[in-house]
Amino acid sequence: MSITDAGAVSAVISERKPDVVFNCAAYNFVDRAETERDRAFAANADGPRILALACRQVGASLVHFSTNFVFDGAHDEPYIEADHAEPISVYGASKLAGERAVIEVGAHVAVLRTAALYGGPHSFPMRILERARAGGDLSVVSDQFVNPTYARDLAAAAIRVAEEGTAGIVHAVAEGCCGWDDFARAALAEAGMTIEVRSVSTSGYRSPARRPANGCLASTRIAPLRAWREALHEALNP
Ligand SMILES: NC(=O)c1ccc[n+]([C@@H]2O[C@H](COP(=O)([O-])OP(=O)(O)OC[C@H]3O[C@@H](n4cnc5c(N)ncnc54)[C@H](OP(=O)(O)O)[C@@H]3O)[C@@H](O)[C@H]2O)c1
Repeated sequence: MSITDAGAVSAVISERKPDVVFNCAAYNFVDRAETERDRAFAANADGPRILALACRQVGASLVHFSTNFVFDGAHDEPYIEADHAEPISVYGASKLAGERAVIEVGAHVAVLRTAALYGGPHSFPMRILERARAGGDLSVVSDQFVNPTYARDLAAAAIRVAEEGTAGIVHAVAEGCCGWDDFARAALAEAGMTIEVRSVSTSGYRSPARRPANGCLASTRIAPLRAWREALHEALNP
């Protein structure tokens, strides 16, 4: 079922009458979004609005996930919830439009902005390990900074937010921030692999979408999730 199908979404929500809905659905192709603006806005803005309306109808709370890419990355500190959002990509703009849409619809809505999410088999640390094992190129950007955030920790934080009835924008990221190159090095170290990562600058890469140089978040509303190195250790040594 597509989140953009208002009839289907409304039917499922009114039939199941959930207390809380966690919306993880998103169009996440950051580069492709530059040429697929309509698809990005449909899934990231129209869909969440449809879902928020359906939740309001049955009195369900909505926890909606968003991204550090709503910021332009020019700030020299981690971004807090009150900072001005100024996306520099279509993806970021579509996610910001989604945040605004759900907040406009419902009082029982929390928007959890997160960053550099991993945990699944195709997420960044797993792809780095796969590439290292295959003897592939390990050139990784060093001038884009993020909080590597373990999906398991984010899920626990999202449940806490729902249980406590926290509403509005909330930054939910691991404590600490690093360049993608250091994230890659940490993953290799956890796997006991002594393979060199070559740090490269964003300017050496031609990608359709711009990404924030400073993609680091901090929260003034909830405690940070555990430190990113600690979480990465658990994720890679289950
Ligand atoms: N990954 C990150 O580093 C990161 C960073 C910051 C924030 N976030 C946010 O965290 C959330 C989850 O991200 P993720 O990386 O876990 O996403 P993901 O793995 O790409 O999963 C997104 C899911 O949304 C589904 N989907 C896409 N379009 C849909 C539609 N129109 N209707 C219903 N389902 C649809 C996809 O299904 P199909 O696979 O079948 O298309 C997929 O299962 C998103 O809100 C994202 O913006 C992610």
